[in-house]
Amino acid sequence: MLEKVLLLLCLSSALAQELCVPDASDGYKVRLSIKSALGDNAYVWNENEMFLFRSILAFAMRSHFTGQHFDISNIIVCDETPRVSFWFVVTSPTNSSVLIEKGEVELAVRQSRFRINSAFLLTDQTLEFLGIPPTLATPFNPDTPPWLIVFGVVIGAVGAGIIALLVSSVVQKKRKKNEKTEEDAVYEEAQVNTMENGTVHESRNGVYNISFSDDERLTHM
Ligand SMILES: *[C@@H]1O[C@H](CO)[C@@H](O)[C@H](O)[C@H]1NC(C)=O
Repeated sequence: MLEKVLLLLCLSSALAQELCVPDASDGYKVRLSIKSALGDNAYVWNENEMFLFRSILAFAMRSHFTGQHFDISNIIVCDETPRVSFWFVVTSPTNSSVLIEKGEVELAVRQSRFRINSAFLLTDQTLEFLGIPPTLATPFNPDTPPWLIVFGVVIGAVGAGIIALLVSSVVQKKRKKNEKTEEDAVYEEAQVNTMENGTVHESRNGVYNISFSDDERLTHM
């Protein structure tokens, strides 16, 4: 059983070696300049870093081909040199003996370029994919400059204020008009009452006052 597994492992690594060779037609050479990029903060390139590279490339491939489950086993690396450079190829997740076309790998790398650079704290110049031109668009470049956003917010606030003022003045005018007509109505009613009874006290208030004075009279007695 163990022998079989070992044989399989050897076979697969031999196969991988066959697929990934320097100057492979579907491969890319990667060159990192960690020391020149980070100086004293430079990290040592080791197996873990290579694991991260393969993972993030699998991530880039997944992002490019939605629904295809690329794994780190699909990213085959070869010809690694200590002053860090290496070649890599990408195999298909459905058939590990089929390589993904160079053009597709390029698109995937370009699409996730910023994420790849961020993972290694490097830039397009210090993490080179030879043959893949640097992405032109810088990731943190908002289309609208900040001052324009502030300007827009201020103008918007002023506009909202003006509209609120206009609306409130119109509402107040309408209310005043309504009050006037109500006052007129009350005045006319009072006039009618006066004409009928010969006394102004017969308005609603007057009636209340009379009953109140009646009560007072009762309490006095
Ligand atoms: C994988 O691809 C190779 C080459 O095209 C082909 O010979 C093989 O049958 C394929 N394997 C599977 C499982 O499809």
